[in-house]
Amino acid sequence: MSVKQLQEEILKLKKKNDVTILAHYYQSIGIQDIADYLGDSLGLSRIVNEKVTSEYVIFAGVLFMAETASILNQEKHILMPNKNAGCSLADYLTPDLIYKFRKMHPELPVVTYVNSTAAVKAVSDISCTSSNAVNIVQKISHEFNVNKVLFGPDSNLADFVEQKSNIKTIKMPENGHCAVHSQITPKDVFESRKKYSDALVLVHPECIRKVRDLADFAGSTAQMYNRVKNSRSDEKKFIIGTECGMLERMAKDFPEKEFYLLKDEITCFDMKKNNLSQIKYLLNNLDDKDFEVRVPPKIAEQALKPINKMLEFS
Ligand code: 13P
Ligand code: SF4
Repeated sequence: MSVKQLQEEILKLKKKNDVTILAHYYQSIGIQDIADYLGDSLGLSRIVNEKVTSEYVIFAGVLFMAETASILNQEKHILMPNKNAGCSLADYLTPDLIYKFRKMHPELPVVTYVNSTAAVKAVSDISCTSSNAVNIVQKISHEFNVNKVLFGPDSNLADFVEQKSNIKTIKMPENGHCAVHSQITPKDVFESRKKYSDALVLVHPECIRKVRDLADFAGSTAQMYNRVKNSRSDEKKFIIGTECGMLERMAKDFPEKEFYLLKDEITCFDMKKNNLSQIKYLLNNLDDKDFEVRVPPKIAEQALKPINKMLEFS
């Protein structure tokens, strides 16, 4: 069945059911186009918190995103097209590692990137996303009256926060990183700038410092989207340093601009584990428990506090 046929069937089934489809910018463009809401991690959490009224939610993203949705909305059924879509960055941090760091620095707040497990969130003081990390770290360090925080699991985002604020971060662990974004090298930036000389380079904060420093802009996926949306008419070409789904979205929404990927392939294979056939299956089988993401109630209750605190602060 073609992508178009699958999309038409999904849209028909969606009308019949009380269901909302959420998708992250890294999903295939076919999925993005049938979603009710599209966004970055913060935007999707806000939508779950404020806008979703349906009993069922299909979350096309990775596990930590669906878990966050389930924590924020424990009475709803959060379904994932493929529950094996994880995030290797999230796996760098465990509650035990946080306990170890807390013991060494009992006075410091624990800030965890939303790309973390529910169990990790449950023992954190506050969550953050790539779009609000600087603001969150500034506010929580002010509340604790300190100039340092414990931060995990992304050491590159921690470093980005240090660059943009006067707050130091102790990284939990020292080398947590996203396997997709950390593959981008300064050489890739030099080469793509040479190829597309008058283009602006936009990268994600999960990239290493040397790459971020060479770029014109570093921000979350939604911030990159808005940078292009609000660009001047003479800013025509953009080199995109994040997962290729983002480029597909912008190329479709801004046909008057030109987009190039920072290197030949920037793909998050976990994000790409979801597909339209699985979404169609779910719409016909909303009560198939194998696809439901449910965080154990005790962990969900504890993890809700740092997520809500983040939403209040941002
Ligand atoms: P955003 O919050 O910027 O969408 O990032 C999510 C992510 O997983 C980046 O790799
Ligand atoms: Fe995780 Fe990196 Fe994929 Fe984002 S791009 S979901 S951080 S592995």
